[in-house]
Amino acid sequence: MSDTQLRLGVNIDHVATVRNARGGAYPDPLRAAKLAEEAGADGITAHLREDRRHISDADIDGLMEVLSVPLNFEMAATDEMQKIALRHKPHAVCIVPEKREERTTEGGLEVAREENKLAHFIAPLREVGCRVSIFIAADKRQIEAAHRIGAEVIELHTGAYCDAHAEGRMEDAARELESLREMSTFGHALGLEVHAGHGLTYDTVKPVAAFPEVRELNIGHFLIGEAIFLGLTPAMAEMRRLMDEARA
Ligand code: PXP
Repeated sequence: MSDTQLRLGVNIDHVATVRNARGGAYPDPLRAAKLAEEAGADGITAHLREDRRHISDADIDGLMEVLSVPLNFEMAATDEMQKIALRHKPHAVCIVPEKREERTTEGGLEVAREENKLAHFIAPLREVGCRVSIFIAADKRQIEAAHRIGAEVIELHTGAYCDAHAEGRMEDAARELESLREMSTFGHALGLEVHAGHGLTYDTVKPVAAFPEVRELNIGHFLIGEAIFLGLTPAMAEMRRLMDEARA
């Protein structure tokens, strides 16, 4: 892959959500991860939440064993998760905020106010070779703080843009998109690798994919949902087609 090609990271959390609805072993997120890999995913993302509501510890063990593409391990900044990450040493660790009562990761991480704590938290992860990514809102203050603490990657939260689009608030969507565009340029200029994700669909992916500074999109819920109707491989192929079209 060329240095400018946009990477697609496939988040498989919600295969585990469906599995866990019955408490058994089916459908297996590892099978989905291997299928996504065969269908051209550039990476697999999995979020091990404190409450283990979807991905389990055993899933992470399995992913580390079976994947040929990089694993982007999403986790909250807790001691428990740091230990797990240090044991596995995944390619990338994405630090996300986590609240027990939330349905999904609602906002970006508060880096600016927690700068010292986070700098100490990510240092050992970097020492063992993990690329540390920080999931943040398109906000200059947070991006500068992510840069200061030594993160190599920022992932810009596209949720507000996608929500506004889904609810037909097109002026809000355009404003959110403009912030994402400006902040991807800003982050890139600081030397950070810029990723983006959350809530992206066929309808919302293209404007984000068109930002030249964005190197990777992480997409889960919509793709797994589409996989019910189309199968994962065609769903990914359509997403990839739209990404490539936007990039061209
Ligand atoms: N990126 C991050 C950091 C996330 O937390 C999530 C959701 O777990 C995603 C991307 C993917 O979001 P979605 O499942 O809405 O596509």
